[in-house]
Amino acid sequence: MLRFNTSDPTKNRIETLILPVCEDSPLHAGDPVRTLIDRAGERPEFSGEKGDVMVLYDPDGINAGRVILAGLGKAGKADAEAFRALAGKMIRRCMRMKLPEATIAVPSAGKTGTEEKELLTALMEGACLGNHVDNRYKQEKKQTPLQTIDFLVDEKTAAAYEYLPSRVEAVCAGTVMAREWVNLPANDKQPEVYAEDIAEKAAAAGLKVTVLDETALREKGFGALMAVTQGSESKARLVILEYQAEKAEKTVALVGKGVTFDTGGLNLKISGSMSDMKQDMAGSAAVAATLLSAPQVRPGVNLIGVLPLVENMVSANAIRPGDVIRTYAGKTVEIGNTDAEGRLILIDAIAYTIETMKPDILIDMATLTGACVVALGEGFAGVFSEDDELTEALLRSGRRTFERCWRMPLPDDYRELLKSNIADLNNMSRSKRWAGAITAALFLSEFVKDTRWAHIDIAGPAFIEKESAYCGAGGTGFGVRLFWDFLNHLL
Ligand code: BES
Ligand code: ZN
Ligand code: ZN
Repeated sequence: MLRFNTSDPTKNRIETLILPVCEDSPLHAGDPVRTLIDRAGERPEFSGEKGDVMVLYDPDGINAGRVILAGLGKAGKADAEAFRALAGKMIRRCMRMKLPEATIAVPSAGKTGTEEKELLTALMEGACLGNHVDNRYKQEKKQTPLQTIDFLVDEKTAAAYEYLPSRVEAVCAGTVMAREWVNLPANDKQPEVYAEDIAEKAAAAGLKVTVLDETALREKGFGALMAVTQGSESKARLVILEYQAEKAEKTVALVGKGVTFDTGGLNLKISGSMSDMKQDMAGSAAVAATLLSAPQVRPGVNLIGVLPLVENMVSANAIRPGDVIRTYAGKTVEIGNTDAEGRLILIDAIAYTIETMKPDILIDMATLTGACVVALGEGFAGVFSEDDELTEALLRSGRRTFERCWRMPLPDDYRELLKSNIADLNNMSRSKRWAGAITAALFLSEFVKDTRWAHIDIAGPAFIEKESAYCGAGGTGFGVRLFWDFLNHLL
């Protein structure tokens, strides 16, 4: 739980105080804290350099059991992400120290280059997200999250941002939810199992939930989605979550790729690239988790989450390269490669959403291409859209949340690469090696008509091999904070 603490640290006892410190200029206003930092700085082992940490027990001047001084480096370089990372790292350290709670001393915003709200949000997000450990499959639970994290501020700040702790908690709970879904091994999240879990949580949160099963999907003509699932023993689902805002003029639809495991199908992936393919539903996890937090965040727009859920497997029933399928929209597609399955389930979900729900804006999020990871690495998602305003809004949200996005092109002349000799389109580009992320996005664009649309390829940032400052190894929950920042700035 996140809370403000406005008490006087010289009087009221604080068990663990985390103190961010810059090497070249003071960040804190109060005298006792300043004196403490100055004294620490006289020691050779702590200068406030980035990564410096020093723990003082029962220090003079402050009524604290321990003070953890944490270096931020030069003040000019300490942006919101530096504070987010510092909070995450220090809370993870406290978790390892088996502490039940900690208090972070919030710097005076005026002494940092960051605005007060941004600074508070960053510290709270880093602390909240860092305070998560996914040990559901471990018998021995070595770490437990802290029960409370306090933020030491003056009364004026606490009053002005009273709403902030619960808001940040709601959004971060979404990120954590998405991480945990991504981390689930594929043998525990077959489409029908995963759909049931989403539906249950969504109903409990007060969302409207619709689940289409295979009979309904076949009847309605989801030919592309059904083609992907036909090789799997598990059953495909389409989950639709709806949040109705009190007074809203706009409806935003979010569509998320939900391939619970991607073997590649008959165009089988080589083992190295198959091993982490339980992550191939990260787009759906981000969308579902965003919808789940909507009743608490209460956006000013109506929200729809659409989740096509399948498993891409190999069997005697699997689709073959060269097969031709009929999509929901009526266009036919030649299967050039069974490993380009994400775009197949997405086009049916997108066409259905546009036809039946007529959203003002549609954004899809997907771990769509390895090519996007080659282009941008783990740090950036690729954004594809012809809508400049929508793109700029997403890029801005990416900068604010540090869920970074980079715009990629949608060149019309590349559409040629998706031509098929026999069908309306081929799901694989003729240029097999080049521009894979772009041709995948162009393929999707054939199904969005004139709806305002953006596609976000998160194949890079959805999953990390090694833990970072505020995220354990595995699913990152990328997309939830990005969506919320975007939605909250939409009006
Ligand atoms: N799920 C993969 C993309 C992916 C790669 C996600 C790495 C996460 C990390 C997707 O379904 C895929 O296999 N794409 C192919 C498309 C190709 C066959 C046209 C790719 O990117 O190689
Ligand atoms: Zn694939
Ligand atoms: Zn895939």
